[in-house]
Amino acid sequence: MEWGACFMGFLCLVAFEPWRQFGSKTNGFCDRDIFDEREGDLSSPGYPHRPPTHAVSCRYNISVKSGYSISLNFSDKFHIESAMPQHDAICPYHWLRVTIPGREPIKLCGDRSPGVIDTNSSRVSLDYRMDGKGLSRGWSLHFSTRKVQCPHPGRVTNGRGPSSRAEFFYGDRIFVRCHQGHKVMMGGQLLESFSTTCQENGQWRDRLPDCKKFHCREPEPLQNGWMKHLSGTLNEYLSVIQYGCDPSYSLQGHDNVTFTCEAGAQWRSNTANVQTPFCTPVCGQLDPRIQNEDNVISEGGFPWQAFVSSPRVRAGAAVIGDRWLLTAAHVIDEFRSAKHEVRIIVGAFSISRRGIGYQDLASFHVHPDFRYNPHSHLNINHDIALIKLRDPLTFNENIRPLCLPTVGTLHNHGTVGIVLNPAILMHLSSSDPETPSFIEWTALDDNTCRMLREKLSLHRNVPPLPNSMFCARHPDLSSAMCDGLGGTPFTVKYNGSHWAAGIVSWAYRCSHDTVRYFIKVPNYIDWIRDTMQRNS
Ligand SMILES: *[C@@H]1O[C@H](CO)[C@@H](O)[C@H](O)[C@H]1NC(C)=O
Ligand SMILES: *[C@@H]1O[C@H](CO)[C@@H](O)[C@H](O)[C@H]1NC(C)=O
Ligand SMILES: *[C@@H]1O[C@H](CO)[C@@H](O)[C@H](O)[C@H]1NC(C)=O
Ligand SMILES: *[C@@H]1O[C@H](CO)[C@@H](O)[C@H](O)[C@H]1NC(C)=O
Ligand SMILES: *[C@@H]1O[C@H](CO)[C@@H](O)[C@H](O)[C@H]1NC(C)=O
Repeated sequence: MEWGACFMGFLCLVAFEPWRQFGSKTNGFCDRDIFDEREGDLSSPGYPHRPPTHAVSCRYNISVKSGYSISLNFSDKFHIESAMPQHDAICPYHWLRVTIPGREPIKLCGDRSPGVIDTNSSRVSLDYRMDGKGLSRGWSLHFSTRKVQCPHPGRVTNGRGPSSRAEFFYGDRIFVRCHQGHKVMMGGQLLESFSTTCQENGQWRDRLPDCKKFHCREPEPLQNGWMKHLSGTLNEYLSVIQYGCDPSYSLQGHDNVTFTCEAGAQWRSNTANVQTPFCTPVCGQLDPRIQNEDNVISEGGFPWQAFVSSPRVRAGAAVIGDRWLLTAAHVIDEFRSAKHEVRIIVGAFSISRRGIGYQDLASFHVHPDFRYNPHSHLNINHDIALIKLRDPLTFNENIRPLCLPTVGTLHNHGTVGIVLNPAILMHLSSSDPETPSFIEWTALDDNTCRMLREKLSLHRNVPPLPNSMFCARHPDLSSAMCDGLGGTPFTVKYNGSHWAAGIVSWAYRCSHDTVRYFIKVPNYIDWIRDTMQRNS
């Protein structure tokens, strides 16, 4: 009987379940639990002589802090009776079994010391067994502990990892930082850095990563502008791209801006006040080709002039945004009843004839306080309206927005403004390129305007003159043509740009009077901006 035999009332152990019955041991003679001692000595009962009893069953259970490894150093004097020559089994009657958790137990006998056993474990147990026959003089050992060591984790390409000379023990943490332009790639994500820890089993928690060269995302195209790569077309680290705007647009006050692909795989602007580039139209500018020294506007002038027409009415308007036209309110009533017949023309005075475009209407927005009686033609206060286009305009040399004024100084007494000559309308549909002509009007102060109107009202029914209107005079009666272009802007050149100072509203029969009445656009700036914003 090899296993399960009980000798002299000592503990009976079952071969491959060495720990199970340990807690209920009754053998106070040789069992030992050793915890948390950094080192110590152990030997079999009676060593180096025969044990005091014939049969022995002892367990020594060494357990230290995790992360530490126990090493057993057996002394030279080692003697456990080994198998008789005719017996096949290893150490059948007397043995010392070394059990390391998770590994095959080692069974020892014979008279050669096993020397040093490095367990790489923080727990080990020794079972010593002798049956009642034969003789073993036993064994002795010194055990010691050391911190678990992890192997060197290796080198990192394109990064800085652990130094090659260092040794690593349980709990040690190592960091990897990638060289400029490289990043740790883990789980499909780019990380700035990486760390891993030497675990209690002597293994690293994670394998060292590679540092991969990173790329920024494909840069967004710029609306009404352009983008090009100055270097690094693959958007890799330190690639430089440049943005600029098409003519007639301005890039936040810059000709162009550059962005660099930087750490974080982000495009970073090299211009302090431009984080996201966008192009805004330049208002009130004429193409340099058509603005000669005498400020004579020729072909291609009036790029903000628009025309609105239905079979019964024609009106002028000013382009003030890529989807917005400014006009007079009194013309809108007529269009409203024939909405599907409304034609909108922009770019009529195209330099190349390429700019002319018919635009589709989206909506009309008349000033809410405008009241108009088409029979009396009286009380046309707040004669202002906006037209929204269905599709945005693309600005170019032929189509540009007029500036909206924020200052009221644009129609002071004596200010000269220009209004497109309505005679141009007759040629609009012809195929010959047009050279727009215009009429210069000189603004009068409010008192003069009021006086002139009073004079007129002595003989005629004329509308009142509210503060939101001004009047202007043309010195030459014969050329002051004034039919059919209500809604046309009265523009003033100021500080290098053309501004919408007024809108043509009404006149009393031009042939009898040289004065016309205009809406003061600056008075309606808040309404214009609000309306455009609410309907954007
Ligand atoms: C084992 O012990 C012997 C003497 O007891 C000693 O000379 C030897 O250095 C020890 N070996 C180790 C690895 O500690
Ligand atoms: C412990 O680890 C060392 C080095 O990793 C190895 O040489 C030795 O065989 C291991 N010991 C055992 C009992 O597995
Ligand atoms: C040693 O004995 C203790 C207490 O009986 C037990 O908790 C521990 O698991 C034993 N160690 C091993 C390595 O089995
Ligand atoms: C970018 O701007 C600079 C200075 O404003 C200018 O000199 C350069 O010509 C511009 N480059 C391009 C491609 O527009
Ligand atoms: C005139 O234009 C320049 C540049 O466009 C601007 O900086 C300046 O403020 C303007 N002056 C006035 C009085 O509007």
